[in-house]
Amino acid sequence: MTYKIAVLPGDGVGPEVIEAAMIVLDEIALDAEYIYGDIGWEFWRKEGNPLPERTVELMKQTDCALFGAITSKPKDEAQKELAPELQGKGLEYYSPIVKLRQLFDLYANVRPAKAYPGNPLNYKDNINITVFRENTEGLYSGVEYYPVPEEIDNAFKDHPRYKKFIGIDKAISLRIISRKGAERIIRAAFEFAKQNNLKNVTVVEKPNVLRETSGLFVRVARKIHEEYLDIEMWETNIDAQAMWLVKNPEKYDVLVTSNLFGDIISDLASQLVGGLGFAAAGNIGDNYAVFEPVHGSAPKYAGLYKVNPIATIRAVRMMLDYLGEKEKANKLERAIEEVVKEGKVRTYDMGGNASTLDMAKEIAKKYSQL
Ligand code: NAI
Ligand code: MG
Repeated sequence: MTYKIAVLPGDGVGPEVIEAAMIVLDEIALDAEYIYGDIGWEFWRKEGNPLPERTVELMKQTDCALFGAITSKPKDEAQKELAPELQGKGLEYYSPIVKLRQLFDLYANVRPAKAYPGNPLNYKDNINITVFRENTEGLYSGVEYYPVPEEIDNAFKDHPRYKKFIGIDKAISLRIISRKGAERIIRAAFEFAKQNNLKNVTVVEKPNVLRETSGLFVRVARKIHEEYLDIEMWETNIDAQAMWLVKNPEKYDVLVTSNLFGDIISDLASQLVGGLGFAAAGNIGDNYAVFEPVHGSAPKYAGLYKVNPIATIRAVRMMLDYLGEKEKANKLERAIEEVVKEGKVRTYDMGGNASTLDMAKEIAKKYSQL
């Protein structure tokens, strides 16, 4: 079967880390057609759209996408950089990756944080945590008000705790947790634990304070857990979990949580095992997935081929898993592991001076030897 994979390099260091990933993919010799698509700052400036419609159409023809990184800038700056002929047309910059999550309903943001033994950046060597972050709702649902319309004040006028906010200058962001949204991310987390023979899933919320939203999330988790009784389920609060990840990260296999908490806790987890040079993410839905390094376009390194491509190569590994290419995925994981352990080739973040492509070539070579 020939896979069709959309490759979206983006800008800044995006094209460099994608070039590195392609060196590895060439060695893997996946039976795949790679179709390159336009995305990022350049297309905002030239066309007034950072995610052109043709790119979305191209993606619809593919099995999944590999995404590099893009630059985004605040509203005012974005407007200023827009081509003169596009100015004043009411065009607004938006985040392409957020848009893709919505368009393809990529509800699971999966972020592995695994310590490769020998990585000088490890906080501890035996960490292997996968964070499942809900990707489409929660506090990032995008339902926000400033100023707050009068009808909202009116709707809540009898609420005992809302009263003091009526008629004053304020902003509101709604935290929406749907039962369906909670179910599918929690199920994804348990399925992952089951398929990988992992021992525990921790539901990280704050139900003592966010009684309704976190409350629903935790109740749904308890229900789903009944189908996975071989796996232990722990319930923790987000604040305490941040401490515990620093105290004893080796205890945790899978964390599952809502959007904002997952955003924060996954960054914490990735810093325990090497930071942005190592952190990869999958944005996974029922019909499509986008794999990416967690880092951005790192403008100060753009064009220098200095950044660590391991984050993107790990994204490739996740993509292989998603496609069902388990053997290739495991072999790639071993190749990364070996190269990190040997420590001969290290990028600047690991204290070395190897280039982005040196690292990719070393991993490709190791892969060919396994
Ligand atoms: P960044 O992730 O681009 O870079 C921050 C710093 O982290 C870099 O200066 C570098 O020191 C280090 N770093 C990043 N990637 C690395 C790698 N592969 N190896 C070694 N070190 C690495 O974050 P920053 O500077 O906050 O944002 C730059 C631009 O990227 C902004 O326009 C931002 O909006 C955008 N961004 C895009 C993302 C995406 O495409 N998904 C995600 C995050 C930021
Ligand atoms: Mg983040």
